[in-house]
Amino acid sequence: MDEVTYKGLTFETYISREEIAKQVQRMALEIQRDCKDENPLFLCVLNGAFIFAADLFRACNLPDAEITFIRFKSYEGTSSTGEVKKIMGLSESIEGRTVIIVEDIVDTGVTAQELRNLLATLNPKTVKMATLLFKPASLTVGLQPEYVGFEIPSKFIIGYGLDLDGLARNLSDIYVLKEDKKDEN
Ligand code: IMP
Ligand code: MG
Repeated sequence: MDEVTYKGLTFETYISREEIAKQVQRMALEIQRDCKDENPLFLCVLNGAFIFAADLFRACNLPDAEITFIRFKSYEGTSSTGEVKKIMGLSESIEGRTVIIVEDIVDTGVTAQELRNLLATLNPKTVKMATLLFKPASLTVGLQPEYVGFEIPSKFIIGYGLDLDGLARNLSDIYVLKEDKKDEN
């Protein structure tokens, strides 16, 4: 098993690039089916979702689809601060549009909830959410993303856009933080 180390923390391979590609393809087909008569606006939540959004957007065969970006930040180190900062807002109108939020991961769900509340004030036709990863056990709000790549336990992961304080986004596979096994020798 492959291991990588960042800031003194060791991570091991968790989800391979092949498994990611397969689920991205499956999600794209679901979105295509649901949006075939629409011109959806994909809304990529930066920074973490940029790689997933690029792959998902290209995999959807929807000639009238568009993509735009918004930036939020809530994590420091390996845990959520519980407070979401909006760093870069939305520049175009979403009035009457079908919006597909593209997230890398839904953890506590606070970011997703804040974003949904914000978008609701801008009169879209519908808002749906596509997230590559979902940690249902960490959810602190009532929310169910419409399109989910993988449901995972509440462990810290990196790679494929997900970071540890800005690092590791460029790994092609997803890695999980190795647990300390104290009685292992
Ligand atoms: P939430 O608001 O707690 O749902 O967290 C959402 C954001 O926290 C995600 O968009 C990620 O940027 C970050 N995040 C949550 N879990 C992880 C993780 O396991 N690794 C890296 N970033 C994470
Ligand atoms: Mg993020």
